[in-house]
Amino acid sequence: MNILLTGGTGYIGSHTAVVLSQLGHRVVLLDNLSNSNAQVVDQLRRITGLDMPLVHGDVRDTPVVQHTLEKFDIQAVVHFAGLKAVGESVQKPVEYFSNNVQGTLSVLQAMQAHGVNTLVFSSSATVYGEPQFLPLTESHPTGATNPYGRSKLHVEEILADLARSDPKWKIACLRYFNPVGAHASGLIGENPNGIPNNLMPFIAQVAWGQRTELQVFGNDYATPDGTGVRDYIHVMDLAQGHAAAIDYLKQHPGCHPINLGTGQGYSVLEMVRAFERASGQAVPYRVTPRRPGDVAACYANPQKAHELLNWQAQLSLDDMCTSTWHFQQSLGRLESP
Ligand code: NAD
Ligand code: WQD
Repeated sequence: MNILLTGGTGYIGSHTAVVLSQLGHRVVLLDNLSNSNAQVVDQLRRITGLDMPLVHGDVRDTPVVQHTLEKFDIQAVVHFAGLKAVGESVQKPVEYFSNNVQGTLSVLQAMQAHGVNTLVFSSSATVYGEPQFLPLTESHPTGATNPYGRSKLHVEEILADLARSDPKWKIACLRYFNPVGAHASGLIGENPNGIPNNLMPFIAQVAWGQRTELQVFGNDYATPDGTGVRDYIHVMDLAQGHAAAIDYLKQHPGCHPINLGTGQGYSVLEMVRAFERASGQAVPYRVTPRRPGDVAACYANPQKAHELLNWQAQLSLDDMCTSTWHFQQSLGRLESP
């Protein structure tokens, strides 16, 4: 299939580009490069041996999206493009609703105009709000605690209405848990600007010596060691989940919310120890007060993905840490003077 990846030069998009193109799909990337770099295309060529066209554009520019769909005869869209920092979304709600909600509406308008009706949307476990029970199933009530989460929820609701309005639409809302890790080549990975918000890139920078210590946000949660528990999933497993969803949609119209997680939770301190083992480096840490808005534990019931998509996460916590470390080393060498 000819597949458009919006946000395709970003962290999850670039790994999905590798998997889809290695499965024989023709992949086209569209990105405004607000949180990624065009050099990712060179890295993708080194990994896959293939040239993937990159359209430098904004998803809110409907004519650009429409022209891209026409030019490359696109049959399915994976919509990654958007902003994703929870704290920033509280400061800049208009930017979040514009990029995430308006951006999605623009993609849908272009798809409608061009008769493309297969869509995989990057949703998030954040749509569950504060967990009322664990593990989280897709039927857990939804709710949002910040503008980022609300933007994902709004889009999911729009997509459900769209699928109800017209049986031609085939939509998967993939609710990612905590994506981590990198491609085994070390050529692509997560490279946040400034101070990382998320645990894994922060740990990697401490292990590399770029930061002195990790702050552990609270050790008084009702979890086995008191630190927060999350469902970390290897980004290559996540990428495979997108390929499985595209296959599934061929025969299954409607709008399908599906968790992509491993079902296994790890605490912050378990992550620190696993990273120390994988990297051979010390990760000094200091316990600080809880981060506002954090929940004690969040992990998936991934059974629906297994049943519908025949997909299950395969890679281990050690794979997640080893590949992150490999990428951090390549990045660190590039960035050091
Ligand atoms: P990322 O920032 O690395 O990738 C997003 C890409 O979209 C970037 O390359 C950015 O330049 C591009 N982009 C942003 N706004 C755009 C716009 N208006 N037009 C065109 N391109 C635009 O983030 P990621 O981690 O790869 O996340 C991809 C998607 O998955 C996002 O929608 C995010 O909300 C969702 N998600 C991510 C996580 C996570 O922890 N990484 C978890 C759940 C859901
Ligand atoms: C993980 C654990 C922290 C940093 C966020 C978004 C969510 C989703 C994924 C997009 C928690 C602890 C962290 C640090 C720490 N993104 N921590 N010190 O909060 O589960 O989810 O990213 O959809 O919407 O909210 O991930 O990696 O920030 O935190 O102790 O410096 O690590 O308290 O327990 P989170 P995270």
